[in-house]
Amino acid sequence: PIDSYDSCWLRYEPVDDEELLSSYRDRCEHVYASDSAPELGVVREELNRGLEGLLGRAPHLWNHPPRSADGFLAIGLPDEMRPISETVDTDAVRSLDEDGYRIRSVTWEGVDCTVITAPTDSGLVYGTFHLLRLMSTGQPIDDLDIVEEPANANRLINHWDNPFRGKVERGYAGPSIFDWERLPDLRQRYFDYARLLASVGINGVVVNNVNTKIPSREGANEAVSRRAGWQLLESDNLEKVEALASVFRRYGIKTYLSVNFASPMLVGDLETADPLDADVEAWWERKVDEVYETVPDFGGFVVKADSEGQTGPYDYDRDHAEGANVIARALEPHGGRVWWRAFVYGSHEDRAVQAYNTFEPLDGEFHDNVTVQIKNGPIDFQPREPISTLFGAMPETDLGCELQITQEYTGQNVHACYHVPQWKEVLEFDTYADGEGTPVKDLLADREGQGIAGVGVVGDDPNWTGHYLAQANLYGYGRLIWDPDLTSEEISEEWIRQTFGGDSTVVETVNEILMNSWDASIDYHTGSIGLMHMMYNGSAALENHYDPSPEEWPEYHGASEDGIGLDRTSSGSDYTGQYREPLASRYEDPETCPEELLLFFHHLPWEHELADGTTVVQRLYDNFFAGVEAVKELRAQWHTLEGEIDDRRYRHVADRFDEHVLQAERWRDTIVSFFYDYSGVPDEDGRVPLE
Ligand code: GCU
Repeated sequence: PIDSYDSCWLRYEPVDDEELLSSYRDRCEHVYASDSAPELGVVREELNRGLEGLLGRAPHLWNHPPRSADGFLAIGLPDEMRPISETVDTDAVRSLDEDGYRIRSVTWEGVDCTVITAPTDSGLVYGTFHLLRLMSTGQPIDDLDIVEEPANANRLINHWDNPFRGKVERGYAGPSIFDWERLPDLRQRYFDYARLLASVGINGVVVNNVNTKIPSREGANEAVSRRAGWQLLESDNLEKVEALASVFRRYGIKTYLSVNFASPMLVGDLETADPLDADVEAWWERKVDEVYETVPDFGGFVVKADSEGQTGPYDYDRDHAEGANVIARALEPHGGRVWWRAFVYGSHEDRAVQAYNTFEPLDGEFHDNVTVQIKNGPIDFQPREPISTLFGAMPETDLGCELQITQEYTGQNVHACYHVPQWKEVLEFDTYADGEGTPVKDLLADREGQGIAGVGVVGDDPNWTGHYLAQANLYGYGRLIWDPDLTSEEISEEWIRQTFGGDSTVVETVNEILMNSWDASIDYHTGSIGLMHMMYNGSAALENHYDPSPEEWPEYHGASEDGIGLDRTSSGSDYTGQYREPLASRYEDPETCPEELLLFFHHLPWEHELADGTTVVQRLYDNFFAGVEAVKELRAQWHTLEGEIDDRRYRHVADRFDEHVLQAERWRDTIVSFFYDYSGVPDEDGRVPLE
């Protein structure tokens, strides 16, 4: 039972359309499901809960086909529900990808029967959530013929939760939901979290922060500041990991850990973590064997090495392939995988070029069970970035794309910002890796060792995500990486119907708010012509990346008296040269560079004229002002929903919008004043300098 926290999109509100209700009842009041595997227990529970909510009464659950019913739902592996499964092409079902499923309306012995079948138990879980989603969004279910397979084999959430400390790095929804002090005791909330994740197709959870060692703060208690994620590999903590894994596995989700590269020294008592040292190799082997003895279906490790203070192979003059491979060899006999992050940069002197320079030369050197995990852009989850040049540059290596679900740079828990259109832009981007028509989504799809990892967004807040509308990002992340061909709007509409109900005014209004929120965010955070990272940086251990602070890191925007932007062409850092043609030439020339990325690639005079004759500085002013107007419009649209949705959720979002408007104005005013100070050029419309 969920009472102290929100049920998000799994509300299962009663169906109010009489016709639909009666058709759903005819088809789903009787359910035939065997319950041999743990996942099937989950299927029965979810159907029971979901159908009771939607149809107003609990279904009858059967262990055999119900003879007396006029219609029923049958769910099971093809071999477990013969002869009903013969109504679908069982060979085709058995050859579906792992996690795939089939849902089909058939007639069996004269009655209407809906069959959900799959090659694996996890497919049955996904098929169940699919059918419940259809009913929760008011779709007819009497003539179904659905075959689904996920585009991406690995669909992961990366928690940046710091175990034992309770805090989530870049988390804006309260403390971590994982209570490591109490584990292996379980909370009901873990099960409900697993349900939310499985309902959108997530199949892996990394439970701790990539920063497995946290730099201790001045004056901090040494014993407390020692406590960090690397400790999860300690023998005493593995049973805690297994406790969480026991919840996730019921829903087809594997559990992973972030580990420290120096674990042989931190967790073990070796003097070195040199990846070519025989004792280090043996240590990883023993440790990994122990992990698998405790967590038999363990997924693997994520490693942040040689990055922002975390140790790595460079400490031993080894390269990243040597670093990753020693851990990969230990995992290999168990079927585990290393997700090795490419977020490596040594200096702030054009950080954009560094990941490629580090990793591209290593293509082909990584062990088969290593995935190189690349952030979508070369900087750091900015509101908009160009695509990382590593996509398409390492054909011999399994690649993963890292996206950020949490809103680190897009307003945290205060601003509304729907990230799905941003991810869509990333996944649709044509890399030209295999000639025209090689989008990122195709490079990642259909390879067992590849996939997408999203930095998590949930915390212990009753609404899970801090800003209520941010639930759409968690929902949308799962749906999009399962099927990158879905549109942002299809996804948001599904989310809204399940979250706020099917009233058409509500659906249209919330949809418009979500769909316009990202553009607004880019406008008032960046001016929408390729600038970024003008956020307050402070120290990595503090909450930051929220306030405007353009003076802090000039190397990220390049503002000077003569102009603005960074030269990343061949006359500068040559990030353009890391792209394939025709992209390299397109970005190289300011005339052909897309305007939305212009100042990322070029340092231009303030009064450089854009295609329509407007100057750079004027475009920036216009966009910053437009961004604030857009946020006011979002707020006004939200206000029209008063009385249309429950007051509690209405007020929560309305209050956030009031603050969002103030913050957007603060961003605008700080940044346009900064531009004016450097350029000395006033706004044509008299808005800058500010009064
Ligand atoms: C960003 C973020 C850090 C994080 C880092 C990473 O810099 O602000 O909190 O640790 O990315 O992805 O490793």
